[in-house]
Amino acid sequence: MQHIISVKQLEDKKLLQELFDFATKLKKLSPVEYPKPLQDKIIATLFFEPSTRTRLSFETATQRLGGKIISTENASISSSNYKGETLEDTIRVINSYADGIVMRHPETGSAARAAAVSKIPIINAGDGGAGEHPTQGLLDVYTIYESKGTFDGLKVGMVGDLLNGRTMHSTLQLLSMYDVEFYFFSPKSLSLPKSYLQILKKQGRKFTELYGWDDALKHIDALYMTRVQKERFKKAKDYLAVKDDFILTKSLTRQLKKDAIILHPLPRINEIPPEIDADPRALYFEQARNGLFARMSLLNHLYS
Ligand code: CP
Repeated sequence: MQHIISVKQLEDKKLLQELFDFATKLKKLSPVEYPKPLQDKIIATLFFEPSTRTRLSFETATQRLGGKIISTENASISSSNYKGETLEDTIRVINSYADGIVMRHPETGSAARAAAVSKIPIINAGDGGAGEHPTQGLLDVYTIYESKGTFDGLKVGMVGDLLNGRTMHSTLQLLSMYDVEFYFFSPKSLSLPKSYLQILKKQGRKFTELYGWDDALKHIDALYMTRVQKERFKKAKDYLAVKDDFILTKSLTRQLKKDAIILHPLPRINEIPPEIDADPRALYFEQARNGLFARMSLLNHLYS
């Protein structure tokens, strides 16, 4: 039994390679050929915050691997959390019904709280703005690996809300295991928390913080765009002041290398205009599709 609370549990190059290889194998199979390690298993999806990709891809992954799903689509109003039940009590009860819990919650540290009382695996599907989203990290690095075949020597640009972007916090930590150079583009008020810069320093990685678009774009191999997370702002005026600071226009994409890739965890708002979608370097929908295979690969690892 293994919880996946943080990317720390995935910071193992050998494990990552195995997960990538299995995801690639699954991508080549038709659904009837998928292995069924989740036969007779039930996974509960417990989402206290909205989701399209994470919840539906985990539910698809579970069923494709032979398992079944129980779900509270909007746990903050449709579970007994609404009546005042503690997260811990909810988790204890679901332990009697399911073999694993995929959970998203607005509080940083909530996944660790759930794991502390759970005898079945807890998979963190996002915990708070300052928290993590480890399986997004997994699918992001898988998409980079699938496209580039390596991480070493890559220059990765991360753009937008680097303060609240839990997806890129997870992705950044996995990439920091490799010889990657980072460029951070953000409004000053949304710059990367110092704790993540410390991780990069400890790993000996080079990084540059930039507070506007910069010529550095022409060196980037993978550009990871993020949305400014409106829901994390206390004052609307603070959101409005920064929401349009980093929009990837067609003219900016001309500065990117011919073989650069453009990623986004999605949902996007206006930071990548739809006209960019036809650019062969725009991989964000393939990245979302990879979420299914990366999560199938992880579930196979946890339940085989
Ligand atoms: N990338 C991501 O976590 O998307 P959802 O919020 O739709 O799950």
